[in-house]
Amino acid sequence: MTDVRYFTGSGHAQEIALACAEALGEPALPLREPLRKNAVLLLVFPVYCERVPPPVAAYLKACGAERAVFIAAYGGMSYGRALYDAQTLFRGKVIAAAYVPTEHAYTQDGYPFGATTLVPLFEKVLSGEGTAVLVPKGRRHLLSGAPGLRSRLGVRLVRSSRCSGCGVCERVCPMHAMRAGKPNSRCIRCLSCVRTCPEGALSFRLSPLLRAYLRRRRKNETRLFL
Ligand SMILES: Cc1cc2nc3c(=O)[nH]c(=O)nc-3n(C[C@H](O)[C@H](O)[C@H](O)COP(=O)(O)O)c2cc1C
Repeated sequence: MTDVRYFTGSGHAQEIALACAEALGEPALPLREPLRKNAVLLLVFPVYCERVPPPVAAYLKACGAERAVFIAAYGGMSYGRALYDAQTLFRGKVIAAAYVPTEHAYTQDGYPFGATTLVPLFEKVLSGEGTAVLVPKGRRHLLSGAPGLRSRLGVRLVRSSRCSGCGVCERVCPMHAMRAGKPNSRCIRCLSCVRTCPEGALSFRLSPLLRAYLRRRRKNETRLFL
């Protein structure tokens, strides 16, 4: 029995969770949905600044699952220590994990996600085999410890005159950082507000520095820990 859960900003982790759910014959649900007793948690989340997004870090500490599989979607730049951090924050046993390359939320370069690379992971989950894996620490970027700062410096949220003040962005923001279409200092630039705004009134602009940094996709590898 597997509970597929996801956290997503711009939709990629949700897409991967749906593919996992299809392979495992279970629904894919957001983090707020409760877990079943004794179920294996299969959690899909994005890599943000080489780390676990703050809402996922909080979830990992509190979710109460005993066994978990982690799938971290990254945008082809670097994944740093995201899975290692998830393993450290989680109180139970990690039985499988994977880094999966996707389109980058900020460049939208159309890089396709392919579920076939995850087949060995699905096979392990379906077999019921529960041996623990150890995700190695990995290297991280100098600024990865300051995800809020790093994304705020490079990404500006723009609200157009189409904003009707409907409040959808306030409800979907995982950081409770939006007020009337404007972000406060808690915003981590996950773009969930941009994705869900019913008026299409929110967009984002990259700084020239971040645009230059993101110009070259560096990694396309899927990495499995089984
Ligand atoms: C705030 C933020 C930080 C990111 N940091 C990284 C990173 O350090 N390395 C990387 O390869 N991709 C990075 N990405 C790209 C995402 O990991 C990638 O686009 C992922 O698929 C997004 O998933 P989502 O659409 O479910 O939010 C970042 C994206 C955002 C929004």
